[in-house]
Amino acid sequence: MIVIDSHGAILSFSAAAERMFGYAEGDVAGQNVKMLMPDPDREAHDAYMDRYMTTGVARIIGIGRVTTARRRDGSNFPIELSIGDADTPHGRVFTGFIRDLSERQRTERRLNDLQ
Ligand code: HEM
Repeated sequence: MIVIDSHGAILSFSAAAERMFGYAEGDVAGQNVKMLMPDPDREAHDAYMDRYMTTGVARIIGIGRVTTARRRDGSNFPIELSIGDADTPHGRVFTGFIRDLSERQRTERRLNDLQ
């Protein structure tokens, strides 16, 4: 799980996220969450968040999305992303739950190759 503030700055990064991405929480705390994804989303993520803040129209929150994330070593991997938002005494925060789909994708490819 990853928690960010309304500007995209990482507030907390779980032990599972540390293993998945190869970063320690101390490496990413305060950095923009866009560091965890490849282009074109990396380039556009601030605009995605601004769009949601101004229109209130959610495209992932409450829906989920299969997309691509990027590890510390620069390799990309498929993920299922779920996002929630919450108002706290310290302002608005967003919580992201990420499931690594690499293993599922490998299995699907093996099955396809067998057919
Ligand atoms: C929106 C990609 C991680 C918070 C979006 C959108 C994309 C995206 C494509 C815009 C959807 C659209 O307009 O159609 C990614 C990718 C991630 C990632 C590839 C891989 C690491 C995160 C995380 C959080 C987050 C970890 C929060 C902890 C948001 C928020 C929005 C958003 C708040 C706007 C709300 C919405 O569109 O429902 N992201 N994101 N993202 N993302 Fe991310």
